[in-house]
Amino acid sequence: MKKAAMYYEFYNQDCIQGAKEHLEDNSIDLIITDPPFAIEGDKLHKHYNRKESFVIEGYVEILKDEYAEFSQLWITEAERVLRPGGALAVVSGYSNLIDILNALRGTTLKEINHIIWKYNFGVSTKTKFVSSHYHILYYCKPGGEKTFNNFARFGSRERNGENRSLLYQDLEDVWIINREYKPGEIKNKNELPSALLIKLVQYLSRPGDVVCDFFLGGFSTAKIAKSLGRSAVGFEINKISFDHHHEEIEKIKVNELAGDVRVGKDDTPPRSGAVWNQDESDQLLSRYLQMRQSGINKQKAINLLSDEFQRGHWSINHKLGTLEMAN
Ligand SMILES: C[S@@+](CC[C@H](N)C(=O)[O-])C[C@H]1O[C@@H](n2cnc3c(N)ncnc32)[C@H](O)[C@@H]1O
Repeated sequence: MKKAAMYYEFYNQDCIQGAKEHLEDNSIDLIITDPPFAIEGDKLHKHYNRKESFVIEGYVEILKDEYAEFSQLWITEAERVLRPGGALAVVSGYSNLIDILNALRGTTLKEINHIIWKYNFGVSTKTKFVSSHYHILYYCKPGGEKTFNNFARFGSRERNGENRSLLYQDLEDVWIINREYKPGEIKNKNELPSALLIKLVQYLSRPGDVVCDFFLGGFSTAKIAKSLGRSAVGFEINKISFDHHHEEIEKIKVNELAGDVRVGKDDTPPRSGAVWNQDESDQLLSRYLQMRQSGINKQKAINLLSDEFQRGHWSINHKLGTLEMAN
């Protein structure tokens, strides 16, 4: 049963055992997690953690030989605890991605997107291309209403200086997000950037939802969830990291980031989707021809007509195409 008030519960233990002990079936709205990658001698973090002394010790890795079974065990728990319609976003490197994909495909979870996160500070190479991306596997549990807040960050009519849709760009499945330096701050070995977590939380959950992270590390997911007014739960096996960040998250106020994040408004034109009648179609064509004759280019005309007819750009463009063909 879902708890009534907001809550923040973190456990310094193995996530598989911890989930069995503390998380009820169907109780979590969103899981965002970043498991250890099972890369022996992983030095990827050194490029952005310039000063190793600020990196918390005790990071627990998984052996490569155990990774497939380990992935299968925690992903089975994730499937169990998600509510129907709830979402799972797993961040993974390429090396052992296959194990995560196999584990996900062994569940009832449905793949929604395979997102590429392009980051900065890839390790430079001389004999091959630089690896500079991770994978974000976005899956949903069937059987319930999925949360996807389409206008969480941009309205449908917001455009950049080149007249491109900001919403469309934000919804593309390649995300270019820099890692954070945080000079002089104590941090975990591979911390996810806030911008990436804010984006996932804004699109995939609602205020008051429960966000879970099976591998808290620096508690980045939980910190963002709390500061955006969501409940947060999770597990971290490394006591040093757990103790440090558990104390840090207590200092964060519920919803404290709410005024600082970009929020889109649903500015879908009121007549969007309405059937075109003959009068309206005739007026559209006539106004379009007038505009073109007065020297307005096609794109500008579509923008103006979208405001005038209270319909989306696509709809105006499509209708003009069919009218021009018919005339
Ligand atoms: C890639 S890091 C997570 C980083 C985190 N997303 C952040 O932004 O700080 C993976 C974390 O999982 C922890 N870990 C490893 N095995 C675990 C297990 N069985 N249960 C819980 N945590 C585990 C590691 O100690 C490490 O802190």
